[in-house]
Amino acid sequence: MAGSPGGLTKPLGIAEVRGILPRGGTILGSSRTNPFKIDGGVEKIKENLASLGVDALVAIGGEDTLGVATRLDELGVKVVGVPKTIDNDLNATDYTFGFDTAVNIAMEAIDRLHTTAESHHRTLVVEVMGRHAGWIALHAGLAGGANVILLPERQFDVDQVATYVEKRFQHQYAPIVVVAEGAQPLDGQMVLHNQELDSFGHVRLGGIGQWLAEQLEAKTGKEARTVVLGHIQRGGTPSAFDRVLSTRFGLQAIDAVHEGDFGKMMALRGTDIVRVPLKDGTGELKTVPLERYTEAEVFFGS
Ligand code: F6P
Repeated sequence: MAGSPGGLTKPLGIAEVRGILPRGGTILGSSRTNPFKIDGGVEKIKENLASLGVDALVAIGGEDTLGVATRLDELGVKVVGVPKTIDNDLNATDYTFGFDTAVNIAMEAIDRLHTTAESHHRTLVVEVMGRHAGWIALHAGLAGGANVILLPERQFDVDQVATYVEKRFQHQYAPIVVVAEGAQPLDGQMVLHNQELDSFGHVRLGGIGQWLAEQLEAKTGKEARTVVLGHIQRGGTPSAFDRVLSTRFGLQAIDAVHEGDFGKMMALRGTDIVRVPLKDGTGELKTVPLERYTEAEVFFGS
């Protein structure tokens, strides 16, 4: 069976990748680039792979990187994919690596913010990343004991949020509101820094935290401040969970290459690593189901 210890092959050239376990980032210095938006981009990829004697490409990334990998596979490039994004928004895998590290960083930030929130009786709004999925906000908010968690998956009523905040003050416990960068108020437009699109057609998110803090201060009469965690969530040393997951994905990816099983994405299902068609991972975003949000809502305002 694919993934069984007996099926694993020692990766070739392992000496060249020694010492990267405690490091974040791309190591190679590669970044999210859309070759389909560059004239001759795909031909250049094929030429480079051939001239460098590269047998196969292991694409490591999220929706955009693996979306490109899916199209490259259709064009005959030998490629397998490994799901890596802090957003945890890829279908067909229970978790992507990077997510657990980001959640732990956000949770630790929330833990630290309780001090100021309680000492100075302020509302603290923490804006976290995650693009159009609320996984980071949901997990960090639950783990950090947030008073309210706001996700892109469900528009929020700012008056309701203000009520939760006031209730928390009544309990002599300062409120921390965790808001995902993609969350939106009921009747407003998404709050953005700018409307520019990147080469994959994504708007740059951010700004909802500041807007929300201003609204809450006006509605509750209590000082409200914003903390935007931004790229801090994507930096530093990976968690143990992410190190183990990425190592297991890597072993399975090398096996797939050796077996010529291209066009596949490695996926975590329960505790097993399996291979699924690349397009299953990227076809549709994996967002937070409503029933998961409902679990968290039990604690709002308490
Ligand atoms: O997809 C990962 C992610 O960190 C998102 O959570 C965030 O919206 C985006 O990337 C930020 O990308 P950039 O650093 O290119 O602005």
